[in-house]
Amino acid sequence: MPITIAVGTQWGDEGKGRVVDLLSDAADLVARFNGGDNAGHTVTVGQTTFKLHLVPSGIIHPQTVCLMGNGMVINPLSFLSEIEALTAAGVDASPARLFVSQAAHLITPAHRLLDQVQEAARGAGHLGTTGRGIGPAYVDKTARSGLRAGDILDQAGLPAKVQAHVEQVDCLIRQLYHREADENPRSVGIDVAGISAAFVEKATRMAPYIADAGAMARKSLAAGKRLLAEGAQGALLDLDQGTYPFVTSSCTTATGLFGGLGIGIQPVQRVVGITKAFQTRVGDGPFPTELAGEMAVRLRGTGANPWDEYGTTTGRPRRVGWLDGVLLRYVVEISGIRELAVTKLDILSGMSTLKICTTYTLKGRAAGDEFAMARLGEYQPVYEELPGWNEDVSSARRMQDLPAAARSYLRRLEEIAGVPVSLVSVGAEREQVIRVN
Ligand code: IMP
Repeated sequence: MPITIAVGTQWGDEGKGRVVDLLSDAADLVARFNGGDNAGHTVTVGQTTFKLHLVPSGIIHPQTVCLMGNGMVINPLSFLSEIEALTAAGVDASPARLFVSQAAHLITPAHRLLDQVQEAARGAGHLGTTGRGIGPAYVDKTARSGLRAGDILDQAGLPAKVQAHVEQVDCLIRQLYHREADENPRSVGIDVAGISAAFVEKATRMAPYIADAGAMARKSLAAGKRLLAEGAQGALLDLDQGTYPFVTSSCTTATGLFGGLGIGIQPVQRVVGITKAFQTRVGDGPFPTELAGEMAVRLRGTGANPWDEYGTTTGRPRRVGWLDGVLLRYVVEISGIRELAVTKLDILSGMSTLKICTTYTLKGRAAGDEFAMARLGEYQPVYEELPGWNEDVSSARRMQDLPAAARSYLRRLEEIAGVPVSLVSVGAEREQVIRVN
C-alpha cells in the first residue's frame, strides 16, 4: 500500500500543483484531504495552464482516480465550474473517476458572505482570508450544524436544511454585525429564500460525484494501489501548528491525511515537503524574513507572467522574502517531511548574493533553535549569505547542469532542513524539472 504525501512547507503557494502533477505519474489514486477553493494549484502542460482549486491536480493524468476527502469543505458552485473548465480542456472529470466524500462539508454563498462580513468587522486586525467561506464552513462543521455533501442525496430534506442554515447566517449578519439596509444597501442581510433555492438547485448537480471516498481509498490501498495525497495550503497555515490566528481552518500538515481521507494510520512511503526556493505569504500575519523595496519587486515579479507572485485564487500580490530555515526545520518536524521538492529555483538566477535565515534573535539575544510560534513577529532573522549565479537554469535537467553556486544553495538548504532534496523545478513547464537520484 504505497502512500506518498505531498504537502506545502511554507504559507501555501509553494507550487504544489506542479509537483503533484509530476508525482501523479506513479499514482493510481490522487486525493485531497483538507481545505477548499481557497487553494489554487497551477499546472502547465504545453500550451494549457490549469488552475485547480478543489479537484486534485492528479486529474490531468488519465490513469488516476481522484478523491476529495471528508476533511475538505466544498463549494458546489466552484466545484461545478471547475468540472466545466476541465471538461472544456479535454480532461475527463466525470463521476466515473472523480469522487467526493459524502462526509465533506459544503460551503454555501451564505458562508462566503459571512466570511467577508466577519473579515470587514475585524478592521485593522483582519486575517486576510480568501473570502471563500472556509472559516465559517469549518465553524459549522465543528459546531455539528454543518451541511455535508451526503445531504445533497437527501432530496426531500435538503431544502429545509439549507434554508435553516441561510436563515441562521442572515440572523448573525443582521444581529451581530448590524448590517442593515439603510447603512449599506449592498450588505443587508440575505435573500434567504432566493439564495437557498438557487443553492439547492445547483448543489443537486453534484450528486453523481458523491460517494464513500474513505471506503474507496481503504479498499484500493488494501488491493495494493498507489495513493498520492495532495495537501492544500502550507504547514505554516495549519490551524494548530501554524501562525495562529493568521492561519486557515484545516490541518495542512501531512498528518491531516489520515483523518481527512478516513484511511487510518498506516505506513507512508514518501512524505514530500514542497518548498519554494524563497519565502512568500499572502494574507496577514508574521513573516520574519519579509523583504520590501526593490528586492521584493525582483522576487515577486510584475504580474506579467503566470508564475509571478500574485495569488491564483484572489490575484493579491504576495509578500516575499528570503528562505526561512528556522521555520523550514520546524515544519520538517511537525509534518514528518522526509524529502524536499524545491520549486522556482530559476527565479533566483541573476542575483549576486542570496540569503537564508538560519537562526533568530529576540530582543538582541540569540534565540538558538528554540522559538515560540505565538511570538514569531518579535524575532529578527539572522542570515547566512551565499553566492548567487547569473546563468539561466531553466534548461537544467540534472544536478550537474546547474551552476556550482545553485548546487551549493540546494546543499545548504538540505543541511538546514536535515532532509534531502529529491526534486527541483526550474520553470513552469512539466519537463522543467531535475529529479535527483
Ligand atoms: P482562508 O483559508 O480563506 O480562511 O484564509 C486564511 C489565511 O490563509 C489567509 O492568510 C489566506 O491568504 C491564506 N490562504 C488560504 N489558502 C491559501 C492558499 O492556497 N495559498 C496561500 N495562502 C492561502
